[in-house]
Amino acid sequence: MIPLVTGDEPLAQLFIRAGCPVCHTIPGIAGADGKVGPKLVLGETGRRRLADPNYRGQATSVHEYVIESILTPGAYVVPGYPDRTMPPWYGQKLSAAALDKIATYLETLGTDAPPARP
Ligand code: HEC
Repeated sequence: MIPLVTGDEPLAQLFIRAGCPVCHTIPGIAGADGKVGPKLVLGETGRRRLADPNYRGQATSVHEYVIESILTPGAYVVPGYPDRTMPPWYGQKLSAAALDKIATYLETLGTDAPPARP
């Protein structure tokens, strides 16, 4: 497999190469103003997803929820957004290091804490 990213890229590059900005608005990432999926402010929304009685996934932390959302988008479909729209193949295209870096950044967004340094 040819990974889209290795995880060594600067954070903005990592998101752009993976294509997330096409569908998601991501605070702090220039040009990431997509509207197909929810704005990625998991520091604010992550806990709410896990507390949703309809949540059936395996994640026990926001960090795990972000990774689960990327690897198995159908595990929890954010209300108001379409299922089967986020690509299901990221698990084959993103390294573990890249996933971890993405989750570490996204879980800080929407909180008062400063975002993780890229
Ligand atoms: C083709 C459009 C598309 C692309 C590309 C895409 N997503 Fe998504 N994403 C969606 C949609 C639509 C949803 C909401 C439905 C769902 O939960 O599956 C979503 C949901 C999510 C969620 C859950 C958000 C929440 O508020 O609970 C996360 C996290 C996420 N995406 C991260 C990413 C990351 C990181 C990338 C790039 C590696 C990415 N997405 C690429 C469309 C996309």
